[in-house]
Amino acid sequence: MELAEIREPDQPGFTRRLFSDAYRTSRARVAEWMAGAGLAVSTDSVGNLFGQLTGAEPGLAPIVVGSHTDTVAGGGRFDGTVGVLGAIELARLIREAGLELRHPLRVADFLGEEPNRFGLSCLGSRAVAGQLSPGHLDLKDGRGQTLGAALGAAGTHPEELAQALWGEGSIHCYLELHIEQGRSLERSLARLGVVTVIAGISRAVIRVSGRQDHAGTTTMADRRDALAAAAETVLLVERLAQGDGSDESGVGTVGRLEVSPGATNVVPGGATLWAEFRSSSPGWLDRRQPALEAGLAELGARRGVELSSEWVSAEPPTLCAASIRDAIGEAITQLGEPALELISGASHDAVHLAHLGPMGMIFIPSREGRSHCPEEWTDPDQVATGVAALLATVLRLDGQERL
Ligand code: HGY
Ligand code: MN
Ligand code: MN
Repeated sequence: MELAEIREPDQPGFTRRLFSDAYRTSRARVAEWMAGAGLAVSTDSVGNLFGQLTGAEPGLAPIVVGSHTDTVAGGGRFDGTVGVLGAIELARLIREAGLELRHPLRVADFLGEEPNRFGLSCLGSRAVAGQLSPGHLDLKDGRGQTLGAALGAAGTHPEELAQALWGEGSIHCYLELHIEQGRSLERSLARLGVVTVIAGISRAVIRVSGRQDHAGTTTMADRRDALAAAAETVLLVERLAQGDGSDESGVGTVGRLEVSPGATNVVPGGATLWAEFRSSSPGWLDRRQPALEAGLAELGARRGVELSSEWVSAEPPTLCAASIRDAIGEAITQLGEPALELISGASHDAVHLAHLGPMGMIFIPSREGRSHCPEEWTDPDQVATGVAALLATVLRLDGQERL
């Protein structure tokens, strides 16, 4: 709750976006909480925040537990934060109980998990997993600034990207506690979920180039209205997500649209849309890209406008490691709780950590499945149960050699 109050004053909900002062302030507070739990605090060249607890066998690769503390615009109080604060609480409980793990424990607050104005998500977890490329740093925002320049201006050192990289075999495993952001747990008797697969995401920036004209004197037949074409594009994305006759399914969204020049008496000459498709079925996801391109080509020809698409990210569905899923399931059973296996429709830093070692996620309920909105809510006792499951799972994983 205290962290939630560190938010952007001019934004609705509990907004704490990358590059905002609120985010900078909040991470200083998280670092204090890490230190207070007895963790050795450090940051890397791209701005990830870590807290380390040494283990009895320091030569062993660390158990990494974390998430993110940045939010979407108009976001809630639990997305990401329960995973970071829960990991800090995990460390505090271990020390308070006088326990010492065999493996080092690394608590992670990964930088910028939510998509930023450059259209890229998971900056910090991509960097440690070697998934953040120099090309990504050249992505430009609407005013032509590059992501690299924006990160540099925020005080990080993206030019030292390699310093942030964790190598192969650098982790024993990765575990993330997160709210479900859906309704499966709430509809079941379980309060704890074991994630099986994290849905893949394909994201495209679609630029529409029409012709700017006078809204009063240009006949309908003569128009090349970029916004009207963009509106059809939104409905095209929606239609393509509603199924293709196969038994696979997914979702499609256009959540952001910009129009130029944006005057009421001018036929829009330009528009930009940010579209994404998600599915836990690789085939479904793969079929969306050509289908969208074909739809844009037909629409552009019919309306006499140029539509270009730039696919800025394409993450396939990511399976959680069986060894981690088993450890989570056993830990939940040990707590006397029912466990529900479920798919994550939301994406997470865990997708990128999976490149470095075995990964798993524990879900706790979201009231009415709401998230990415101020109404996002999880009962405190459900958060506490999630942390208990995290602790029981970490103790299990710590005792195992090979995962
Ligand atoms: O968009 C997502 O799935 C995540 O909340 N960043
Ligand atoms: Mn989110
Ligand atoms: Mn999240």
